[in-house]
Amino acid sequence: MLNKEKRGWWKSAVFYQVYPKSFQDSNADGIGDLQGLISRLDYLEKLGVDGIWLSPVFASPQYDNGYDISDYRAIDPMFGDVSDMEELIAQAKKRGISIILDLVLNHSSSFHPWFLEAKKSRDNPYHDYYVWRDGEPDTPPNDMRATFGGSAWTYVPEIGQYYFHQFVPEQPDLNWENPAVRRELYDMIRFWVKKGAGGFRLDVIDQIAKEPDKFITGSGPKLHEFLRELSREAFVEEGLVTVGEAWSANVERAKLFSAPDGSEMSMVFQFEHICLAFEGEKWNPVKLNLPALKDCMARWQQGLANCGWNSLFLENHDLPRIVSVWGDEGEHRVASAKMLAIFLHGMQGTPYIYQGQELGMTNVRWPIENYDDIEIRNFYAERTAQGAAPQDVMAAIYARGRDNARTPMQWTTGENAGFTTGKPWLAVNENHAFINAEAALADENSVFYTYQKLIALRKELPVIAEGSFALVDRENSQVFAYRRDLEDAHLLVVCNFAKENVSFEIPAEFAGGKLLIANYGEVQEGCLRPFEAFMLLA
Ligand code: GLC
Ligand code: CA
Repeated sequence: MLNKEKRGWWKSAVFYQVYPKSFQDSNADGIGDLQGLISRLDYLEKLGVDGIWLSPVFASPQYDNGYDISDYRAIDPMFGDVSDMEELIAQAKKRGISIILDLVLNHSSSFHPWFLEAKKSRDNPYHDYYVWRDGEPDTPPNDMRATFGGSAWTYVPEIGQYYFHQFVPEQPDLNWENPAVRRELYDMIRFWVKKGAGGFRLDVIDQIAKEPDKFITGSGPKLHEFLRELSREAFVEEGLVTVGEAWSANVERAKLFSAPDGSEMSMVFQFEHICLAFEGEKWNPVKLNLPALKDCMARWQQGLANCGWNSLFLENHDLPRIVSVWGDEGEHRVASAKMLAIFLHGMQGTPYIYQGQELGMTNVRWPIENYDDIEIRNFYAERTAQGAAPQDVMAAIYARGRDNARTPMQWTTGENAGFTTGKPWLAVNENHAFINAEAALADENSVFYTYQKLIALRKELPVIAEGSFALVDRENSQVFAYRRDLEDAHLLVVCNFAKENVSFEIPAEFAGGKLLIANYGEVQEGCLRPFEAFMLLA
């Protein structure tokens, strides 16, 4: 077990993201909850993860599945209460697992008491907790758009002002220029630190320093000043791990966000590799350009070496399933799921596994009525109103929609995949008949055990956590190969991204190396099978 008091313990750790609504229901209301999660901790201990990033479970009217918080110190009754959270933290700790809470500090819910006060009058003490501009009905201050469609400004006729929201109108942006707001948030974070939280994931943290008059959202000028204050005032316990979501991060900015002195955060989620799956807007998928992915990963691996820290991820609750994106949903599903795991887990950084990724779960295709996500529903309404053909809009949703990742966790072949004995809030993927945790645990060749092995290797071999990174055969457009070196340990990682046999020569230095992990068993001379992947240690 890791000593989590130690600074930097998370550098050889692997985390697991739980989307609580869809993980495990314990009381038959069709919604996952904290007691359900507690009942599955043994499974996560078996996988070997060091921490759980828990998507928001705070009180919320659920316009955006908990990313709209109406009380930061209360647990939403549908998930349990504060004593369930205390029990979760204690039970997880017994298994060497930290609980990483998801903080939504950029905005609150429009039902938060602060906002209910703020919109009463211009001189209400809470008015300045949010971002307001004077205006006339139907002429917003400018034409900034909100992320999930529509204007970023909503009018409150009673006071003749617009408030700013980067997401839906039920998610008003908090005014970080106001020191009282910052103090409230720091106090709240210290409350959860006292309860034993092991760290925090910081939702859209690069968007807190906004200047809407200048059209600035991501990375406003005061961002790093705010982050350093947040870190000083709120992340008060030694050993806390903090990871910020930052769509605007590039390598240079990430060096500040994840500076080794800990002045801001431990690491950020950056999305440059994720953005290679589409062109222009997120709804427009493109075929993978493998050399572009290689250049991107190499830039981050080399760019942050010794001066920052990477997070490593391919899935989360906002993204489609990676097997459906860069792998194969058909006969090579298992091989491709393992290949994508080996590809990522050989790199430097802290890997995050999204629930069900360790089973090779896949996307769903449903009629529009079956979807719940506000982004999907707004997108469908907006595009069909503009005249787009419904089948084209649906194709985009099948490929890119967020509900692909939010279908209930597949535990068994049984009814509702063992997720609930009630009616699930979102339908279960029918492929739970053959993709489920029970089957995976019973099969020593399952994707699950590939992840288990990769987690163990990161702890055993310092070259994985600490070694340098270099691409091998960069021009190869089907095989992603790279090496990691640390003193006299040399690691080669080879991943065939193609659905066919590909010829490949293992560099001479690694011939006769030790096979650490492989998705086809023994390595063949000169040829890789579809989605074949392995690691050799020389
Ligand atoms: C982040 C979350 C996403 C949410 C958005 C607004 O991107 O990951 O789920 O909708 O922030 O809070
Ligand atoms: Ca429940």
